[in-house]
Amino acid sequence: MAGLPDQLIDKFGRRIDYIRLSVTDRCDFRCVYCMTEDMKFLPRSQVLSLEELEQVARAFVELGVKKIRITGGEPMVRNNIMALLREIGSFPQLQELLLTTNGAQLTRYAKPLREAGVSRINISIDSLRPDRFERISRVGKLDRVIAGIDASIAAGFERIRLNSVIMKGYNEDEVLDLVEFAMDRDVDIAFIEEMPLGRPSDHEREETLCTNDWVREVIEQRYPLIPTASRTAGPSKYWQLNGRANRIGFISPVSHNFCADCNRVRVTVEGRLLLCLGNEHSVDLRAILRDPARSFQDLKQAIVDAMDIKPERHYFYDEDYAQPVRLMNMTGG
Ligand code: GTP
Ligand code: 5AD
Ligand code: SF4
Repeated sequence: MAGLPDQLIDKFGRRIDYIRLSVTDRCDFRCVYCMTEDMKFLPRSQVLSLEELEQVARAFVELGVKKIRITGGEPMVRNNIMALLREIGSFPQLQELLLTTNGAQLTRYAKPLREAGVSRINISIDSLRPDRFERISRVGKLDRVIAGIDASIAAGFERIRLNSVIMKGYNEDEVLDLVEFAMDRDVDIAFIEEMPLGRPSDHEREETLCTNDWVREVIEQRYPLIPTASRTAGPSKYWQLNGRANRIGFISPVSHNFCADCNRVRVTVEGRLLLCLGNEHSVDLRAILRDPARSFQDLKQAIVDAMDIKPERHYFYDEDYAQPVRLMNMTGG
C-alpha cells in the first residue's frame, strides 16, 4: 500500500516480525508469579472485541509480521477464541500461529487448535506434585494439565514446549523431575527466570529468584548438556541431552540480557501496543480502532510510527529500575 512499508524496523535496526497478542487478562489459574490472589479483571468494554483483535492481527501481518503468538491471561478462557484463531490461521502471509497456555483445557481444544493452524504450543507446568502445583497456581489441577499435554502430543503439533518458572521455596528441587517428564514425552522444556513485573502477593521476587545458570548446573550434574544452534528468534537458548531430539531451553531475562536480538512487540488485551516487556512505552491502538474518523490505514500507520519509540532494552534489576506496575496477565506473557 502506498506510503506504508512492508516490514517493521525499529530505531536500532531490529526487524519486528513477531507479535504477542493477548486475548484476555482473565485466567482459570492464579499463578503466584503472575497474579495477586484477589485480582480484579478488566470490564468488558475495555477489552478488544474479537473483530478488533482480528483487525490488529491483520494490520501487523500486512506490515510483514510472520509470527503471531496468542497469549493472555489464559487464551482458552476467552469466549469464542477458536473463531478468532481459525480466522488468523487462514491469513496466507502468516508463517506461524503459536499459542501459550496453561494447558487446563487442552483435552478439549488440542485437536481443534491444531486444525485451526496453530503449529507450536507452549504449556506451563511448574510442578509435578499435585499439592505444590496447586500452591503455585493457587487453583490449578495437575492431572488436568498433564492430560492436556498428552492430548496435545496426540494432536500432532510441530513442536510442544513446556514452560517452567523455577522459584526457591516453591519448586527448585523439581528441576530434574521436570526434565525427565519432558524427556519421557519427547517434548521440549524451557526454564524461565521469574521476571519482576508487578508485585506478587505471596513472596518477594528477590528471595525466590533462581538463575538459569543454577538450573543448568543442576541438570548438568546428572545429564551433560550439548549446546544447539537452534533458536526460535526468541529469547530461549536451547541445549540437548545426548542422543535426544527434544531440547531444553533457558529463558534468562534477568541474568542475561537478550534485548539486542529482540524481534517482537506485544499487544495487550486493551489494545495497548507495548513495545517492550520491561518498559511502559506504548501506543493506544484501541483509540484508533474505535474512532469512526480513523481507518485501517491509520491503524497501520500508528504501528509503523510506534517502532520509533521501541526502547533499546529492559533494565530489570538495575538500581533505578522503575518496575512496571502491570502484572504478567495484563502484559500478555
Ligand atoms: P517463542 O515464540 O518460541 O520465542 O516462544 P517464547 O519463549 O517467547 O514464548 P512463551 O510465551 O512461552 O514465553 C516464555 C517466557 O518468555 C515468558 O515468560 C515470556 O514473558 C518470556 N518472553 C517472551 N518474549 C520476551 C521478551 O521479548 N523479553 C523478555 N524479557 N521475555 C520474553
Ligand atoms: N516471570 C516469568 N515468567 C512468567 N510467566 C508468567 N509470569 C511470569 C513472570 N513474572 C510465564 C508463565 C508462562 C509464560 C507465558 O510466562 O509461566 O509460561
Ligand atoms: Fe494464568 Fe498463565 Fe498467569 Fe498462571 S501464568 S495465572 S496460567 S495467565
